[in-house]
Amino acid sequence: MSERVVTMEKVVNLCKRRGFVFPSSEIYGGLISCYDYGPLGVELKRNVKEAWWRDTVSARPDVVGLDCSILMHPRVWEASGHVTNFNDPMVDCKLCKGRFRADQLEHASCPRKPSKRPGECEGELTDVRSFNLMFKTHMGPVEDSAAAVYMRPETAQGIFVNFINVVNSARAKPPFGIAQTGKSFRNEITPGNFLFRTREFEQMELEYFVKPGEDDAWYEYWQNRRMQWYTDYGIKPENLRLRAHADDELAHYAKGCADVEYNFPIGWQELEGIANRTDFDLKQHIEHSGKDLSFFDAASKERYVPYVIEPSAGADRGTLAFLVDAYDEDGPDDDRRTVLRLHPSLAPTKVAVFPLMRKAGMPEKAQEVAAMLRPLVTTAYDETRAIGRRYRRQDEVGTPLGVTVDHQTLDDDTVTLRNRDSMEQQRVAINALPALVTEKVAPPVCTTPLAPTA
Ligand code: GLY
Repeated sequence: MSERVVTMEKVVNLCKRRGFVFPSSEIYGGLISCYDYGPLGVELKRNVKEAWWRDTVSARPDVVGLDCSILMHPRVWEASGHVTNFNDPMVDCKLCKGRFRADQLEHASCPRKPSKRPGECEGELTDVRSFNLMFKTHMGPVEDSAAAVYMRPETAQGIFVNFINVVNSARAKPPFGIAQTGKSFRNEITPGNFLFRTREFEQMELEYFVKPGEDDAWYEYWQNRRMQWYTDYGIKPENLRLRAHADDELAHYAKGCADVEYNFPIGWQELEGIANRTDFDLKQHIEHSGKDLSFFDAASKERYVPYVIEPSAGADRGTLAFLVDAYDEDGPDDDRRTVLRLHPSLAPTKVAVFPLMRKAGMPEKAQEVAAMLRPLVTTAYDETRAIGRRYRRQDEVGTPLGVTVDHQTLDDDTVTLRNRDSMEQQRVAINALPALVTEKVAPPVCTTPLAPTA
């Protein structure tokens, strides 16, 4: 592996040029911090979310899923504490009208004089005031305060308010988890850094309910499990770390929190937080709804309000981390190759099929091979330009396998199978391809135990 050659600029350019990510509403000048996933990006992000779902839900006997509505009863956010506490400290520049997070001024620059910090230029800053990060909108045709609703700032609350529904319908009992992926919205004062901080974003959240007293062991368990997940899917361990929050960083609901951080070209940044939310949320909803959300353990005859361990990951920043980590360049200076060394199971396209030449029946045969593979894995077909250029195009978007139909194919029904990383080729029979390709792009098998070990 060559030294780290990745910059955010290279990744952003690749994303635009090859159709991973486009600026939103680009023909109208774009909308700040909003992005659209293109044909390859949507496949990559879906694969990231599927990898999370497979390992967090499907492969476990103790986790079920939910898909809740984005708009919820406004009282949910009063009970959760978001109306009161989900604030960032904000200051405005009286001169340029720029808005900044008061606690992050040392990372901001003056919009008029970028070499200066806000307030250290000619502009004077206002006093600090609290800015609630929830987006407010109106439900129905009347725009009065009675119709105000919030766009959810986290998917977690949909899980808490359904706790009893799931316990009763799925006959779940602690320790067990409820998982959800979906969009959330935060009116960030300073979004930025491409997909890293956007106002509309997608979360992958697990709320894992445990008996009080068992929470510390499960808190540690989920920290280890989630770190392992990223490395299982190819993130280099040296680019990943776990950082415990200081007391003054903790969210209003958390007794403890540790961030999984990734070493982006912009520095170490959070991919996911693993929090011990205690019984805060269920107790708040008990108080505000008047409903009993405690759990009765019929075996031990105990009634209790479970504690919650919450691994909460960002799907967009996770996707960005997989892209950044996979980005590589190799070869001599006069013949550089850009290659995305994505884990095969995350790669947007799994296999590309090429006729060596556009003659002698090779395109027809290659189309047949592509049609055979397409129901099994995402398959591309390319017959334009020289074969070396076609390999490079696929390397650049992380396609792990290339199948080439050549002269010999027409004699013996074999093809070459090329490996993206080693660039080596093996000769294989066409009828062996389905099993071989499927095996080579399979997801990793999770080796973490299902529960804390003593
Ligand atoms: N549910 C935790 C978070 O959204 O950060």
